[in-house]
Amino acid sequence: MPGPGMELIGEEEIQEVLDVLRGGYLFRYGSTTGPDADPRFRAKVCQCEQEIARYMGVRHAVAMNSGTSALLTALAALGIGPGDEVIVPGFTFIASISSIVYARAIPVLAEIDRTFNLDPEDVRAKITPHTKAIMAVHMMGNPARLDELKQIADERGLALIEDCAQAFGASYRGRALGSIGKIGTYSFNVYKTITSGDGGMVVTDDEELHRRAFAFHDQGHSPLRTGVEIGQRPFFGLDFRFTELQAAVLIAQFRKLPGLLERLRANKKRYKALISDLAGLEFREITDEQGECATMLTVILPNPEIAQKIAAELGTKVVARAGWHVYNNMEQLLQLRTPTAVPCPFSCFSRYAGEDREIRYWQGMLPKTDALLERALNISIGVSDPGLSSGYGVTIRDDAESVERHAREFRRVAEKYLK
Ligand SMILES: Cc1ncc(COP(=O)(O)O)c(C=O)c1O
Repeated sequence: MPGPGMELIGEEEIQEVLDVLRGGYLFRYGSTTGPDADPRFRAKVCQCEQEIARYMGVRHAVAMNSGTSALLTALAALGIGPGDEVIVPGFTFIASISSIVYARAIPVLAEIDRTFNLDPEDVRAKITPHTKAIMAVHMMGNPARLDELKQIADERGLALIEDCAQAFGASYRGRALGSIGKIGTYSFNVYKTITSGDGGMVVTDDEELHRRAFAFHDQGHSPLRTGVEIGQRPFFGLDFRFTELQAAVLIAQFRKLPGLLERLRANKKRYKALISDLAGLEFREITDEQGECATMLTVILPNPEIAQKIAAELGTKVVARAGWHVYNNMEQLLQLRTPTAVPCPFSCFSRYAGEDREIRYWQGMLPKTDALLERALNISIGVSDPGLSSGYGVTIRDDAESVERHAREFRRVAEKYLK
């Protein structure tokens, strides 16, 4: 099973979905509110937006059809577009990068550090007069170094965007991820902590960003399509709306979050304890041990050869080779593959900014990231993503005994090479 939420789908989700179907309203705008409201309209999209915003400690949340849409919406809300640069880690899911491309802005790749998230030092080095935002991606449940990144963003007048797709339920120094930067985004696809099949969300405390995000995700309308709108719509929007059926599933999943996180954290602790004394074995740096959502355990081996031998024997791959979360494996980026003959935004600078900047990406351009990922293995604790861990590890349904058995097996193999 891809993620812990999907693994736990049960009667609660079924009842929520039936409730919507019995009411007969599938669209987020089912019926007017107030005395004329039809009680059969359950307003599940609004409900899940309000519940999640409260949980995140922000005033606003807009649910939508995917995490990719949420990223594009966040960029649009911030007004990021042609000629602008957005700094993004070279280790992330392609959508962090493709959303920037579709905003017609330029992704500027930065190194990761031992958190497997953005390296603040390299972020500083990558800032140019065109930089408008830093996109911190909280990879595999571990918060990025938000203190440092926020400080850089504030000092340099940049927007901090949090891509929290892989970290629903995680927090940093007591604050929910997504609530620390200017705007945060989530995904609810099946590989995430909780799922609605597909789905996404934008969260922000900023009134104006909320208005713009809502407009972008729903044809330019104001939040909840209130008021007389002719002449009032700020710009063209698109249709990224969430449905009542998806919201019904998400509401049931959200209720399972506390138990789910507790189990993931306990399983990860158990697994880690059984292998942590292995000589030469190191772990990814976790920025907030209490706050991370513990969907993966990432180990770092002394060198790429040992990492590959262990991976091969366990039937998995080193992270560098596992899939397309690594810039080196993103052919669309390396070859500037856009759907149009002119690869916009990469070659549109003369048009956008009156400049002739050459934009290129190449394998090996982030040596620190490459060196780390060649030595790293991901062990699934609750998320089994073939692009990150080749599915190796345990699931949320594994009990203590099963987790221990897996950890002992890892130990047995690793000991052969860690001498
Ligand atoms: C870091 C990251 N950002 C964005 C996304 C995009 O989310 P979605 O698949 O819901 O569009 C994902 C999904 O895997 C992701 O892992």
